[in-house]
Amino acid sequence: MNVYDSARIADVLAPLGYAPTDDPAAADMIILNTCHIREKAAEKVYSELGRLRPLKDRPGTRNGRVMIAVAGCVAQAEGEEILRRTPFVDIVLGPQTYHRLPEMVARAERAAGAVLDTDFPADPKFDHLPGPAAGAEGSSAFLTVQEGCDKFCTFCVVPYTRGAEYSRAVADVLREARCYASAGVREITLLGQNVNCFHGEAPGGGEWGLGRLIAEVAEIEGIERIRYTTSYPADMDDALIAAHRDVPELMPFLHLPVQSGSDRVLAAMNRRHGSDDYRRLVDRLRAARPDLALSSDFIIGFPGETDGDFRATLELVKDVEFTSAYSFKYSPRPGTPASLEDQVDDAVKSERLAELQSLLDEQQKRFNDRCIGREMTVLFDRPGRHPGQLVGRSPYMQAVHAQAPRPLLGSLQPVMITAGSANSLSGTLTDRAVA
Ligand code: 5AD
Ligand code: SF4
Repeated sequence: MNVYDSARIADVLAPLGYAPTDDPAAADMIILNTCHIREKAAEKVYSELGRLRPLKDRPGTRNGRVMIAVAGCVAQAEGEEILRRTPFVDIVLGPQTYHRLPEMVARAERAAGAVLDTDFPADPKFDHLPGPAAGAEGSSAFLTVQEGCDKFCTFCVVPYTRGAEYSRAVADVLREARCYASAGVREITLLGQNVNCFHGEAPGGGEWGLGRLIAEVAEIEGIERIRYTTSYPADMDDALIAAHRDVPELMPFLHLPVQSGSDRVLAAMNRRHGSDDYRRLVDRLRAARPDLALSSDFIIGFPGETDGDFRATLELVKDVEFTSAYSFKYSPRPGTPASLEDQVDDAVKSERLAELQSLLDEQQKRFNDRCIGREMTVLFDRPGRHPGQLVGRSPYMQAVHAQAPRPLLGSLQPVMITAGSANSLSGTLTDRAVA
C-alpha cells in the first residue's frame, strides 16, 4: 500500500513541478514514506533522517533548502516527536492527509516553521487525488479500494495508524482502473488492509462486495489479470469464493494470512476463527478453483506461544501446502493490547522461525519443481539481468525468466517452464508468442 501511496504522492506534487528522481543528492524534496507494522520502524526513520541531514543545505535548491518530509504510519504514530528529535524536518504527515501536501509544501516554503498534519479527515483523501500520470504505472498497477481496519488483532498497529475501515465508491474505483488500462496496465492488484471486507457504494445505489467489484473490473478492456490483497480469513464471503470459479481474469493465487495454527493463540490474537475454519475455507476455495496457490503470513512467538502451539502451526502448514509465505518474529507494538507478559524468549523465537521457514521453503521448492514442463502465461514486467532476457510473473506470482525480445515487455506471453529454483522459474517462449 505504501507503493501505491507513494505513486499518489508523486501525482499530487506533479502540478507543483516536482518529478521523482532516483538520486537523493539531486532532490529538492525528500519524502520518507514509512511503515510501522513491525519492530524498530521509528528508530530506522530517525537514523535515515540523520543520514539525510547533510543534504539539507545543498546550494541552488528550489526553496533555498532541501525540504524533508516524513509520511506514512511512523509519522502518524510519532507525530510531534519527529519534529522534536529532528527539527530539520519540514513536514510530518500521516497516511490519510497526503492529498493536502501541496498546501503543506506552500506553508513550509513560507518558512513559518514545520508543518504537522496527522488528522483523519472526515472527507477521505481519495476524493481529492488527481488521476495517475500517464504511463507511470508500467504493466502492473496497485489500486487501493479499501483502507484502514476495525478488526483490532491484538498484535497489530494498523487500526491505530491507518484509522477506521473505509471503502471507496465503486464508480471511483472503476474510473481509476480504466485510466490504468488505457495507460497500458494489464494487471491490477486491488488493495486494502482488509480488502475482502470491501463494501463500496454501488453505481445504482446499495453496496457491492469485492466479488462483484472484481467481476466488473474484469470487464474493462485491456485488464487481463486481477489480484487482491490482503484478505482476512473470516471475511471471505460466498460471492468472492465464487469469483475464483467464475472470473477467468482473477488469478489463481491468494495471499490469506493465518498468523498461527493454534486455536489458543488465534483466540489471544482476536482473529475470530480457528485453525479448522481456515482449513475448511481453503477447501472451499480449492473446490472453486482447483489450481489455487496459497500464501500466508505467520507470527512466531506471540506472547504465551508454547511448543505445542508452534507444532499446531507446522501441522496447518503441512495440511495446506503453501506456495510461498512471509513469517515474522512477534514484536510488541506501542498501544496494542497483546499481553506484555509471557514474552517468548528470542532464542526460542529464532529456532521456531528457522524451522517454520525451512518447511515453507520446501513447499515452495516443491511447487516450483511441479511447474517444470508446464506452459504458463507470463506478464513480462522488467528486463532481466542477462542481455536479451525479460522477467515476468506467472499466474501464481512466481518470477519467470526467459529470453525474449524487448518489445514483449508489458505483454502476456506463453512460456514453457524448463527449470525451477527455490525462488523463481525459467523457461522459453513458445512459438505462439506474439508482440
Ligand atoms: N509482530 C510481528 N509481525 C506482525 N505483523 C503484524 N503485526 C506484527 C507484530 N506486532 C505481521 C502479520 C501481518 C503482516 C503484515 O505483518 O503477519 O499479516
Ligand atoms: Fe491488523 Fe490485518 Fe488484524 Fe486489521 S485484520 S488488525 S490490519 S492484522
